[in-house]
Amino acid sequence: MFFDSHAHLDDRRFDNDRAEILADLKNYGVGLVMNIGCDLKSSLQSVALAHEYPFVFAAVGSHPDDAAQVDATRLALYRQLCTDERVKAIGEIGLDYHYEEPSREVQLPAFRKQLELAQDLNLPVIVHEREAHADGMELIRQFFAVTGVFHCYSGSLEQAKELVKRGWYIGFTGVVTFKNARKALEVAQWLPLDRILIETDCPYMAPEPHRGRRNDSRLVPLVAAKLAELRGLTAEEMGEITTENAKRLFRIP
Ligand code: NI
Repeated sequence: MFFDSHAHLDDRRFDNDRAEILADLKNYGVGLVMNIGCDLKSSLQSVALAHEYPFVFAAVGSHPDDAAQVDATRLALYRQLCTDERVKAIGEIGLDYHYEEPSREVQLPAFRKQLELAQDLNLPVIVHEREAHADGMELIRQFFAVTGVFHCYSGSLEQAKELVKRGWYIGFTGVVTFKNARKALEVAQWLPLDRILIETDCPYMAPEPHRGRRNDSRLVPLVAAKLAELRGLTAEEMGEITTENAKRLFRIP
């Protein structure tokens, strides 16, 4: 069985066929999905999907793109949503310095406040961190009681080693199937098997041979297959291992 630990199936690109995709997942061996919020609307939609489908769980939070909206009112709404038993994590939260829009000065307090919320509620977090390695790790060190997953991992092996030592998991998308995936593969080769998560990040990051097209959770076995090949396992074995890992992290019985 495969667990897509990071999906955006609420995205409007699925408006015409969301129900068909969700009904089709079992035919691909995909038995569990974590649907991730990026802002208030997608957080609410994630919770709604998790109520509609017993195999979908929800994370709520603001992506760095939405950082300017993270004020006391918004945090109170997220706190309220986290009382729902289908909500298993805060995310995706983090830092993205690729475009720096919004600025670091806006992103940093939003990330910090959502880490505080996770700490308060004793929930794991789903972190989006791109080109912000130093500031990201600095906050992770400050919030040493909080763990979670660095999703769509793009950091160094050295950073991965520190994350693992601090109890974190690392998530891999279809990027591992791309030609230029050397760095992610180096990390995936080293990573203790009990810290690996697989994800689609759909509708983005479609694995080869679907690169550039809309992605969906049915393709997560392709991510597992690539990682399995790297570690001398079968895709099914990698699926079982990463499913156990995600269930442990998100405390899904
Ligand atoms: Ni995402």
